[in-house]
Amino acid sequence: MMPDALNIQDIVEVTYEKFSHVHDGEVATYIPELGKVDPNDFAICVAAVDGQVFSAGDWNKEFTIQSVCKPFAYQMALEELGRDRTLLHVGVEPSGEAFNSIELDPLTKRPFNPMVNAGAIAVASLIKKDSKVAGARAFVERMQLAAGRNLKIDASVLASESSSGNRNRAIAYLMLNFGIIDEDVSHTLHQYFSQCSLLVNCRDLALMAATLANMGTNPVTREPVFDFQYIKDVLAVMFTCGLYDHAGEWAYRVGLPAKSGVGGGLLAVVNRQLGIAVYSPRLDAKGNSVRGILVCKELANRLGLHAFEFTNVGSSFVQAMM
Ligand code: DON
Repeated sequence: MMPDALNIQDIVEVTYEKFSHVHDGEVATYIPELGKVDPNDFAICVAAVDGQVFSAGDWNKEFTIQSVCKPFAYQMALEELGRDRTLLHVGVEPSGEAFNSIELDPLTKRPFNPMVNAGAIAVASLIKKDSKVAGARAFVERMQLAAGRNLKIDASVLASESSSGNRNRAIAYLMLNFGIIDEDVSHTLHQYFSQCSLLVNCRDLALMAATLANMGTNPVTREPVFDFQYIKDVLAVMFTCGLYDHAGEWAYRVGLPAKSGVGGGLLAVVNRQLGIAVYSPRLDAKGNSVRGILVCKELANRLGLHAFEFTNVGSSFVQAMM
């Protein structure tokens, strides 16, 4: 059975209303600059691979991408180094630990996966360029293609990340000790902090997710952005590790590759169909957006998007809308 009405705009609006009065959770303050956002901000955006975009709420309000940068940086590392060389520096195993856990694989000394901070810092080390500016610019340029508009880094958040980032510094030096990253630690951390400080809005995240869903091509601009052969690697790691120590529950309840960030952004990918994004900066104890999780659960249930949904409505979703 198809959902009662395949009017996505209505479903997005009804879902927005349903959760607009949820005020559970706290805005992240461990990076002081993040504490300045309006905790009540809320937006939902769904982008289809045929180029249609459906939004509700503050869809054009900007916030920093934070950890939602990680799958895209991983994609860039795979494209630049290939699978085997990337795997020498970062694994693909869920850690079941918090995003900022100071822990490496006891055997290989690699970070568990590219979605936790350790793995993302290892990836940043792999994709950094000769100069700090060039490395950050290469990342921003790629994300601009995925969003379909010009983006910039929030200099205040970058400074705040850097001055409060001693835990990430500790993780980086631990990895230097084990030869996972090279000795240019300050350069690597600048790359990582810059990626996290990219300013995006909810529509940008939906289009980035839809670009992954659409085999690497931005569905609105029709520009090729990502090399298709590595997208399955990225989606697999998002599916198993994207929500850290909530990843199992997420796979069970929502069943979509996804990534969250402490800025309040969360994106999910319905392969070959949709990109879904939510922005709501109040986080749960694991650093995931409270309303982001609620909205994705609701949309997955209503639209039959779970990867293993028996009725499998999600797999023919875009055709059904046309
Ligand atoms: O490394 C950090 O602390 C941040 N810049 C990014 C962390 C993050 O978004 C974790 N996600 N929920």
